[in-house]
Amino acid sequence: MNNGNILSLNNVEVMYHEVILVLKGVSLSVPGGGIVALLGANGAGKSTTLKAISGLLKHENGRVTDGSIEFMGKRIDRKSAEEISHQGIIQVIEGRRVFEHLTVEENIKVGAHLSNARVKDGLDKVYAYFPRLKMIRDRTAGFCSGGEQQMLVMGRALMTAPKLMLLDEPSMGLAPLLIKEIFEIITRLNQVEQLPILLVEQNVKLALTVAGYGYVLESGRIVMDGSADKLRDNPDIKEFYLGLTDLGTRKSFRDIKHYKRRKRWLT
Ligand SMILES: Nc1ncnc2c1ncn2[C@@H]1O[C@H](COP(=O)(O)OP(=O)(O)OP(=O)(O)O)[C@@H](O)[C@H]1O
Ligand SMILES: [Mg+2]
Repeated sequence: MNNGNILSLNNVEVMYHEVILVLKGVSLSVPGGGIVALLGANGAGKSTTLKAISGLLKHENGRVTDGSIEFMGKRIDRKSAEEISHQGIIQVIEGRRVFEHLTVEENIKVGAHLSNARVKDGLDKVYAYFPRLKMIRDRTAGFCSGGEQQMLVMGRALMTAPKLMLLDEPSMGLAPLLIKEIFEIITRLNQVEQLPILLVEQNVKLALTVAGYGYVLESGRIVMDGSADKLRDNPDIKEFYLGLTDLGTRKSFRDIKHYKRRKRWLT
């Protein structure tokens, strides 16, 4: 039934406030142990897709109105965010929400609901993956840099020993060196913990470096999918996302129609 996929979305439709249709039949899957990239322009519905999976949608007056979401062979689309997180899905939301007045370590421990022994094991693991967090464990989170805060929210997610991580734009607004560091950690987490990850990213080049498979979302629909290698070589992806083009300098008027047709899936 699930062909080695830990997660599958089948024709998922999502509405906000019972009127705004945002996802128009999204199907995608994440294989056990894999990294899958979900790409797309601003407003395409990437974060909505993640929230539909984690159940956080319900807190924004959103709802899966059609289709189904299966995690480890069980339907989860009607479950609450709490139930879904107990089943092992954790979403690291966009925008790095930290408790600004708490220390880094307090932030990591928040929401873990673990016994003291398990908190210690969890912290050891988080600090092994994010040595920088250990160095700044007593710092007030509000004073940490964007990169440190990103590590913090990922570390906090790791404390729950997730079976699937949903990562929303971890690279947003960070300096290249930090992005590199964070993506190396993402790769290591995936390989060492065998942690499957659904990764939403605007940095397409990087996303397709760490992911095995990718989907392109446009206005609530999947318009392209394939192995990361295949997507990297795709002329549309190259032109619109990677800024590479073999079309020479300026487009002639004759090319515009063709250009528009190809641009269709980019909003
Ligand atoms: N709570 C909400 N209520 C109503 N509409 C919403 C809500 N959240 C998102 N939307 C709308 O749904 C669409 C998709 O938003 P979403 O945040 O999923 O896009 P995204 O692909 O993550 O974009 P970005 O790259 O900017 O983060 C947008 O048009 C947005 O305005
Ligand atoms: Mg988003």
